Amino acid sequence: MTQNMAQIQIVYGSNSGNTKMVCEYIAAFLSEHGHLVKIDRCEHYPEDKLSGHDLLILGCSTYEHGALEDHFRYSFWPRIQDIDLAGQKAAVVGLGDSKYDTDYNIESGRILAKYIEEHNGELVHENLMINKCPLSQLEHKVKIWVEDLNKKI
Ligand SMILES: Cc1cc2nc3c(=O)[nH]c(=O)nc-3n(C[C@H](O)[C@H](O)[C@H](O)COP(=O)(O)O)c2cc1C
Repeated sequence: MTQNMAQIQIVYGSNSGNTKMVCEYIAAFLSEHGHLVKIDRCEHYPEDKLSGHDLLILGCSTYEHGALEDHFRYSFWPRIQDIDLAGQKAAVVGLGDSKYDTDYNIESGRILAKYIEEHNGELVHENLMINKCPLSQLEHKVKIWVEDLNKKI
Protein backbone atom coordinates (compact mmCIF):
# COMPACT_ATOMS: atom_id res chain seq x y z
CA MET A 1 0.00 0.00 0.00
CA THR A 2 1.35 3.42 -0.89
CA GLN A 3 1.31 5.84 2.00
CA ASN A 4 -0.07 9.35 1.59
CA MET A 5 2.33 12.23 1.98
CA ALA A 6 1.51 14.22 5.10
CA GLN A 7 2.50 17.80 5.91
CA ILE A 8 4.15 17.64 9.33
CA GLN A 9 5.27 20.54 11.53
CA ILE A 10 7.71 19.99 14.40
CA VAL A 11 8.19 22.79 16.96
CA TYR A 12 10.67 22.31 19.79
CA GLY A 13 12.34 24.02 22.71
CA SER A 14 15.90 22.96 23.54
CA ASN A 15 18.67 24.36 25.70
CA SER A 16 21.73 22.13 25.31
CA GLY A 17 20.61 20.51 22.05
CA ASN A 18 19.20 17.15 23.17
CA THR A 19 15.60 17.86 22.16
CA LYS A 20 16.88 19.38 18.92
CA MET A 21 18.78 16.14 18.21
CA VAL A 22 15.72 13.95 18.83
CA CYS A 23 13.40 16.18 16.80
CA GLU A 24 15.88 16.33 13.91
CA TYR A 25 16.10 12.52 13.93
CA ILE A 26 12.30 12.30 13.81
CA ALA A 27 12.16 14.91 11.01
CA ALA A 28 14.75 13.03 8.94
CA PHE A 29 12.94 9.70 9.40
CA LEU A 30 9.56 11.13 8.38
CA SER A 31 11.09 12.98 5.40
CA GLU A 32 12.75 9.77 4.24
CA HIS A 33 9.35 8.11 4.44
CA GLY A 34 7.83 10.55 1.99
CA HIS A 35 6.34 13.24 4.21
CA LEU A 36 6.78 16.98 3.90
CA VAL A 37 8.38 17.94 7.22
CA LYS A 38 9.19 21.36 8.62
CA ILE A 39 11.10 21.77 11.87
CA ASP A 40 11.42 25.02 13.83
CA ARG A 41 12.67 26.25 17.18
CA CYS A 42 9.75 27.44 19.28
CA GLU A 43 11.12 30.91 19.90
CA HIS A 44 11.06 31.63 16.16
CA TYR A 45 7.74 30.01 15.47
CA PRO A 46 4.58 32.10 14.82
CA GLU A 47 1.81 30.92 17.16
CA ASP A 48 -0.91 31.44 14.53
CA LYS A 49 0.72 28.67 12.47
CA LEU A 50 0.41 26.05 15.20
CA SER A 51 -2.67 24.43 13.68
CA GLY A 52 -3.58 23.49 10.12
CA HIS A 53 -1.05 20.67 9.70
CA ASP A 54 -1.69 17.00 9.00
CA LEU A 55 0.40 16.38 12.11
CA LEU A 56 1.93 18.67 14.73
CA ILE A 57 4.79 17.42 16.92
CA LEU A 58 5.73 19.47 19.98
CA GLY A 59 9.06 18.74 21.70
CA CYS A 60 10.54 20.17 24.89
CA SER A 61 12.97 19.32 27.69
CA THR A 62 12.44 19.75 31.44
CA TYR A 63 14.23 22.15 33.82
CA GLU A 64 13.76 23.66 37.26
CA HIS A 65 11.82 20.86 38.95
CA GLY A 66 9.32 20.11 36.25
CA ALA A 67 9.22 23.32 34.21
CA LEU A 68 9.41 23.62 30.45
CA GLU A 69 12.78 24.58 28.96
CA ASP A 70 13.30 28.38 29.07
CA HIS A 71 12.70 29.22 25.36
CA PHE A 72 9.47 27.28 25.43
CA ARG A 73 8.48 28.55 28.85
CA TYR A 74 9.11 32.26 28.40
CA SER A 75 9.05 32.96 24.65
CA PHE A 76 6.52 30.46 23.28
CA TRP A 77 4.20 29.28 26.05
CA PRO A 78 2.57 32.70 26.74
CA ARG A 79 1.89 33.13 23.01
CA ILE A 80 0.07 29.79 22.55
CA GLN A 81 -2.42 29.93 25.41
CA ASP A 82 -5.30 31.25 23.28
CA ILE A 83 -4.71 28.91 20.33
CA ASP A 84 -7.48 26.47 19.42
CA LEU A 85 -6.14 23.15 18.14
CA ALA A 86 -9.54 21.67 17.23
CA GLY A 87 -9.06 18.96 14.62
CA GLN A 88 -5.28 19.14 14.90
CA LYS A 89 -3.61 15.73 15.17
CA ALA A 90 -0.56 15.89 17.40
CA ALA A 91 2.23 14.00 19.15
CA VAL A 92 4.59 14.97 21.96
CA VAL A 93 8.31 14.54 22.63
CA GLY A 94 9.51 15.11 26.21
CA LEU A 95 13.05 14.96 27.58
CA GLY A 96 14.48 14.92 31.06
CA ASP A 97 16.96 13.30 33.41
CA SER A 98 16.00 11.53 36.61
CA LYS A 99 19.29 12.55 38.22
CA TYR A 100 17.93 16.10 38.49
CA ASP A 101 14.47 15.31 39.76
CA THR A 102 12.69 11.98 40.16
CA ASP A 103 9.32 13.53 41.06
CA TYR A 104 9.28 15.72 37.95
CA ASN A 105 11.19 13.46 35.59
CA ILE A 106 10.28 14.40 31.98
CA GLU A 107 7.43 16.57 33.23
CA SER A 108 7.67 18.54 29.96
CA GLY A 109 6.09 15.60 28.10
CA ARG A 110 3.12 15.56 30.46
CA ILE A 111 2.74 19.36 30.29
CA LEU A 112 2.72 19.34 26.48
CA ALA A 113 0.25 16.44 26.27
CA LYS A 114 -2.08 18.24 28.70
CA TYR A 115 -1.74 21.40 26.62
CA ILE A 116 -2.75 19.56 23.42
CA GLU A 117 -5.78 18.00 25.07
CA GLU A 118 -6.92 21.16 26.83
CA HIS A 119 -6.68 23.06 23.55
CA ASN A 120 -8.87 20.51 21.72
CA GLY A 121 -6.06 18.82 19.79
CA GLU A 122 -5.99 15.05 19.22
CA LEU A 123 -3.00 13.05 20.47
CA VAL A 124 -2.55 10.25 17.92
CA HIS A 125 0.37 8.45 19.60
CA GLU A 126 1.76 7.91 23.09
CA ASN A 127 4.28 10.50 24.27
CA LEU A 128 7.92 9.88 23.45
CA MET A 129 9.57 10.26 26.87
CA ILE A 130 13.39 10.32 26.79
CA ASN A 131 15.23 10.01 30.09
CA LYS A 132 18.95 10.99 30.10
CA CYS A 133 21.15 11.58 27.04
CA PRO A 134 19.21 10.69 23.88
CA LEU A 135 22.20 9.84 21.68
CA SER A 136 22.25 6.10 22.44
CA GLN A 137 18.43 5.98 22.27
CA LEU A 138 18.04 7.36 18.74
CA GLU A 139 18.36 4.06 16.91
CA HIS A 140 16.26 2.18 19.43
CA LYS A 141 13.59 3.99 21.41
CA VAL A 142 13.22 7.01 19.11
CA LYS A 143 13.26 4.92 15.94
CA ILE A 144 10.61 2.51 17.24
CA TRP A 145 8.45 5.44 18.33
CA VAL A 146 8.62 7.23 14.98
CA GLU A 147 8.09 3.98 13.05
CA ASP A 148 4.89 3.41 15.02
CA LEU A 149 3.86 7.04 14.58
CA ASN A 150 4.42 6.78 10.83
CA LYS A 151 1.90 3.92 10.67
CA LYS A 152 -0.75 6.21 12.16
CA ILE A 153 -0.25 9.14 9.76
C1 LIG B 1 19.76 22.71 35.76
C2 LIG B 1 19.02 21.54 35.18
C3 LIG B 1 17.76 21.22 35.69
C4 LIG B 1 17.06 20.11 35.19
N1 LIG B 1 15.83 19.79 35.74
C5 LIG B 1 15.19 18.67 35.32
C6 LIG B 1 13.92 18.27 35.90
O1 LIG B 1 13.36 18.90 36.79
N2 LIG B 1 13.34 17.13 35.43
C7 LIG B 1 13.91 16.36 34.46
O2 LIG B 1 13.33 15.34 34.08
N3 LIG B 1 15.09 16.74 33.86
C8 LIG B 1 15.73 17.86 34.26
N4 LIG B 1 16.92 18.24 33.66
C9 LIG B 1 17.47 17.41 32.55
C10 LIG B 1 17.22 17.95 31.14
O3 LIG B 1 15.85 18.04 30.85
C11 LIG B 1 17.90 16.99 30.14
O4 LIG B 1 19.30 17.09 30.31
C12 LIG B 1 17.51 17.21 28.69
O5 LIG B 1 18.03 16.17 27.90
C13 LIG B 1 18.00 18.54 28.16
O6 LIG B 1 17.48 18.72 26.86
P1 LIG B 1 17.85 20.01 25.95
O7 LIG B 1 19.31 19.94 25.66
O8 LIG B 1 17.03 19.83 24.74
O9 LIG B 1 17.46 21.21 26.73
C14 LIG B 1 17.62 19.34 34.14
C15 LIG B 1 18.87 19.71 33.62
C16 LIG B 1 19.58 20.78 34.12
C17 LIG B 1 20.92 21.13 33.52
